[in-house]
This record gives sequence, C-alpha cells and structure tokens, in this order.
Amino acid sequence: MTEIIQRIYEVFDQRGDEMYGNEAVTQRQHALQSGLLARKSGQSSQQIVAALLHDIGHILSESELPHSTEENLDDQHEERAYEWLKKYFGAAVADPVRLHVAAKRYLCSKYEDYESKLSPTSLKSYYDQGGKMSDAELATFESEPFYKQALALREWDDTAKDPNRETPVIQDFETELKTCLIA
Ligand SMILES: [Fe+2]
Repeated sequence: MTEIIQRIYEVFDQRGDEMYGNEAVTQRQHALQSGLLARKSGQSSQQIVAALLHDIGHILSESELPHSTEENLDDQHEERAYEWLKKYFGAAVADPVRLHVAAKRYLCSKYEDYESKLSPTSLKSYYDQGGKMSDAELATFESEPFYKQALALREWDDTAKDPNRETPVIQDFETELKTCLIA
C-alpha cells in the first residue's frame, strides 16, 4: 500500500473519533457516510474519494497542511486540504473539495428550500461564510470545471450526519483510493 493511503488511515485512526463540529456524528462517520452516498449513486472513484476526504483539512496535522495564501479565513481549511489532495489525487478529487463550502452558498442561493435541509450548525456557517451569492458569484462558481461535482458532494455532505447509519471501515475504500492516486 502506498505511503499516502497509509497516512490517510492513520489520520482517521488518530482523529476520526473527534466529533464533526456540533453534529451528532464523528469525523469518521461523516467521512464514511459521505463516501458511501457517493458510491451508492454510482459516481466515479474520484468523486467517491472527494466525498470521503472532503473534510480531511480538519483532521490533518498542521505541519502537513500548507499555509493558505487566501485572505478569506472562512475557506481556509478547504483551500489547504485542496493543496494537499491535489498533490496526490489531482484536480478531479481536489477541486470539488475546494468548492464544497461555496457549493452550499450556491445551493441556498439557487433553491429556496435548500436552507431547510441544513443542520443549525451548517446554517449558521452559511451566514458566516457570506450567505446568499450575488449573480456574479453564481457565474464565477459555474465557471469552475468541477462545479457540478462540488454540488453533488455538498448534498452528500449535508446528508451524512446520521448517528445510527451503519458504515464500513475506511479500508473498504482502498480500491477507489488507489485508482485515484496520481503520485
Ligand atoms: Fe462535511
């Protein structure tokens, strides 16, 4: 097994039991449920790995994450996870991860009922991250090559919060992880 996949397993061993913010699931449950939702909807390996690792920026060690050059603190962990993921898995995995916070703003701006699908924590962060997008922001988001993948990822992210849902172990995703490695 490659070093990077081993490192991902270690990160989840070390910090996967931490709670996912104020939600009722752990980081591990949230990641695995997101990956499973992607897999169940018949997505590519890249999209499944993006779903599985979309919040790895929260649990990777500080020394592994590059410092963000972004001014905007709100999206720092996505940006930093993006830099890390891009090195090993390329844009098809890293770009949807980078865009998944903006994707929530996009979905709430485009679809009136989307806010009602958000947990209270997620709704609060939506406002903290800037709330509704302007027309220019919507257009910029749609110019991203992987914006549709980011929207799909966002919907799994917002659903993957069930404390009672059964999940496999992270090693169950080894085939997809190996398929996506570029380095
Ligand atoms: Fe998430």
